[in-house]
Amino acid sequence: MRLEGKIAIVTGAAGAGIGQGVSWRLAREGANVVVSDAHPKRPFEVADKIKAETGKDALGVVCDVTKKDQVDNMVKKTIEKFGRVDILINNAGGNKLEQLVDLDEDVWDFVIDVNLKATYLCCKAVLPSMIEQKYGKIVNLSSSIIYVGSEDGEVPYTAAKAGIVGLTRSLCREVAKHNISVNCIAPGLIMNEFLLKIYPKEYFDDFEKTIPMGRSGEPSDIAGAVMFLVSDDGSYMNGQTLSVSGGWTFN
Ligand SMILES: NC(=O)c1ccc[n+]([C@@H]2O[C@H](COP(=O)([O-])OP(=O)(O)OC[C@H]3O[C@@H](n4cnc5c(N)ncnc54)[C@H](O)[C@@H]3O)[C@@H](O)[C@H]2O)c1
Repeated sequence: MRLEGKIAIVTGAAGAGIGQGVSWRLAREGANVVVSDAHPKRPFEVADKIKAETGKDALGVVCDVTKKDQVDNMVKKTIEKFGRVDILINNAGGNKLEQLVDLDEDVWDFVIDVNLKATYLCCKAVLPSMIEQKYGKIVNLSSSIIYVGSEDGEVPYTAAKAGIVGLTRSLCREVAKHNISVNCIAPGLIMNEFLLKIYPKEYFDDFEKTIPMGRSGEPSDIAGAVMFLVSDDGSYMNGQTLSVSGGWTFN
């Protein structure tokens, strides 16, 4: 098992999408996983299932990643239980669709905070432990939208996700000397039950026609890229952004 004994925090890990998919994959590869999410109950339910089915230890933590005190508490609880943090997956994110001409400041702040500020807060909270142990793997979730833009009211989301790429590059330069890697994944369309509830099926049928591989992705497609970046296979990767989009975008 490639991650035997490693301690991983995954944010936004209790939903139907990438975060939970990555949590399962990390546990199946041997890691003990902290299932962190803002939802008041699901982190515990998902952690219990992971424990029961993989035999690895898992800790559910309720954490709104836009709140510094909650992020610090998530890391404190991780260190109390497991002694350290080896891997951080900054997965939690959010979006609200509004054309810029109508965009209220509170919507801008919400989208920037849940994507970009949260990534800053979580990185800052784990770094002291990673620097002390001279080991750390951080993977930030950007989006392929940064390469092509969007006409659907996603200016703040695109700005936040592009900001995450910038954060990744400069943070890599700050911490690589401590044997810490900071990389990004830019997913294309990754289907989950939640997306299917908010958009009509025709929207995805049309979208899939624009994807060279002819299909949307699944959380396991992203989990595979995460595994590459956090395992020894990706040992010389740092500051990079992987486009995982079935050929829909290129870096
Ligand atoms: N699904 C896609 O097509 C797609 C494409 C590109 C990028 N992404 C990015 O990938 C990541 C995962 O997206 P997903 O759609 O797979 O969903 P997901 O299921 O992985 O994540 C959603 C979870 O995040 C939690 N969450 C929301 N706000 C939070 C907050 N403030 N604090 C803590 N938890 C919070 C929700 O409770 C939910 O459980 C996001 O950053 C998203 O922007 C997704």
